[in-house]
Amino acid sequence: MRILVCGGAGYIGSHTCAVLAGRGHELMIADSFVNSSPVVLERLGGILGSIPPSRQVDLRDPHAVASLFAGQRFDAVVHFAALKAVGESCARPLAYFDNNICGTIHLLQEMREAGVGRLVFSSSATVYGDPDAVPVREDAPLRVTNPYGRSKLVMEQLIEDLCQHDPGFRAINLRYFNPAGAHPSGRIGEDPGAEPNNLMPYISQVAIGRRKQLAVYGGDWPTIDGTGVRDYIHVMDLARAHADALEFMLREDRSATINLGTGCGISVLELIREFERASGRQVPYRIVDRRVGDVAEVYADPGLALELLGWRAELGVDAMCADAWRWQRMNPHGYAVPEVVAAAEE
Ligand code: NAD
Ligand code: WQD
Repeated sequence: MRILVCGGAGYIGSHTCAVLAGRGHELMIADSFVNSSPVVLERLGGILGSIPPSRQVDLRDPHAVASLFAGQRFDAVVHFAALKAVGESCARPLAYFDNNICGTIHLLQEMREAGVGRLVFSSSATVYGDPDAVPVREDAPLRVTNPYGRSKLVMEQLIEDLCQHDPGFRAINLRYFNPAGAHPSGRIGEDPGAEPNNLMPYISQVAIGRRKQLAVYGGDWPTIDGTGVRDYIHVMDLARAHADALEFMLREDRSATINLGTGCGISVLELIREFERASGRQVPYRIVDRRVGDVAEVYADPGLALELLGWRAELGVDAMCADAWRWQRMNPHGYAVPEVVAAAEE
């Protein structure tokens, strides 16, 4: 297949590109690099043997999006391009609506113009908010608690409406739980930039010595050890699910919404211990107040992914920690060039 990958230079997008190209698909990466580095493309080249073609395009610009499709034939689009920081979305809700929702509308419009009717979309377990029960099934009530989550829910709904009313349009909406880990080569991984928002990159930066201590948000949750429980899923398992979803959509000619998680909940303290085992380093931590908007326990019922895609997570939290650590050790400052980092820190 010839696939347009929007946001393909980002964390999950780059790993998915590695898997898709590995399965023989032909790729075109479109990214504005607002939250990623072009260095990712070279690193992908190192993994794949050749650098995948790419275009610097901001999906907020409808003309630039149209130019992506001009003279090109794509069988499908995989759409990762979005801003994803919950806290930032509360500070800048309109920027999130503009980037995520308007960008997606431009993409859908140009897909329609070009006659491309197959989409795999990155959604999130954030659409479940604080679920009534775990494990969470796809038919659980949807309730969002922040503008980022709102943007994901609106995009899901726009795409669902299109699937219902446009006979030529099919989409697989993938709701990721908590992606973690890195490519086993250590060449690509998660580079959160300044202050990490998520737990695993924060732990990695403490382990490598970039940060002194992890703040654990709450020790009094009603969970196994009082800390928050989540469903961490290896980014390589996630990447494989996208390839499986594309193949399913073309084979079965249907749309679906599917959870991607392992089905296992892990607490913050359990993850710290697992990371210490994998890295041989200590991860000092301190229990602080709960983070506003957090919930006690969220993990997936991944049954539908198995039923429809034949997919299940194969890599455990040990592999997530080992691979995240390899990436962190090989790239202590992510994709940033060391001399630039040194100058900035002076
Ligand atoms: P990321 O920030 O690493 O990747 C997103 C990519 O999209 C970046 O390369 C960024 O430069 C690009 N981008 C953003 N806005 C763009 C625009 N207007 N035009 C073109 N490119 C643009 O994030 P990620 O972790 O790889 O997440 C990928 C997708 O998965 C996102 O849609 C995110 O909301 C979703 N998701 C992520 C998580 C997570 O915890 N990482 C969980 C659930 C869902
Ligand atoms: C995990 C656990 C924290 C950081 C977020 C988004 C969600 C999705 C995935 C995009 C929680 C605890 C964290 C820290 C901590 N993203 N924690 N100290 O909140 O489950 O989900 O990322 O769609 O939308 O909300 O992930 O990694 O932030 O937190 O104690 O410094 O780690 O309280 O229990 P979360 P997370």
